[in-house]
Amino acid sequence: MEKTGILFVCLGNICRSPTAHGVFLKKLSEHPDLAEQLEVDSAGTAAYHVGNPPDARSAEIAGRRGYDLSALRARAVSAEDYRRYRYILAMDQQNFANLRAGCPSSFDGHLSLFLDFAGLDNAEVPDPYYTHGEAGFEEVLDLVERASDGLITHLRRELLD
Ligand code: 4NP
Repeated sequence: MEKTGILFVCLGNICRSPTAHGVFLKKLSEHPDLAEQLEVDSAGTAAYHVGNPPDARSAEIAGRRGYDLSALRARAVSAEDYRRYRYILAMDQQNFANLRAGCPSSFDGHLSLFLDFAGLDNAEVPDPYYTHGEAGFEEVLDLVERASDGLITHLRRELLD
């Protein structure tokens, strides 16, 4: 059976999209029937941090909530991703615009803002990279947890019902 690909995308693939990746995988582990149908990854629209682990602040705050990001490494979005992933989910409007610009006309999947799945129209996961202090990273976790729950509900309905 062909798996349904889910790709989380931000700018650097060291803060927001690895957080989404780790949170979604942990939540998905509670749904083994859905998990076996999915392939999950994350990537960045920029290549500055390729090969790097998640930002230490993201890893620390995710860890406190029980999410382990330590195995993740940054990579850049590639043309192949539009073939491999059916859901390509952008953290903010800039990532979304860049993904649309690179999207081939043959893509028949779902390209949107991730927070659509949190029931928030046009909302962004704010870039926490240049924030000082933890509040920005906590906010990323709050939004990502909510959208991950919504995405699981959506995928269960799409793929299992
Ligand atoms: P991310 O955060 O897109 O959530 O991974 C950023 C990481 C790095 C940079 C900007 C945002 N940067 O400019 O290097």
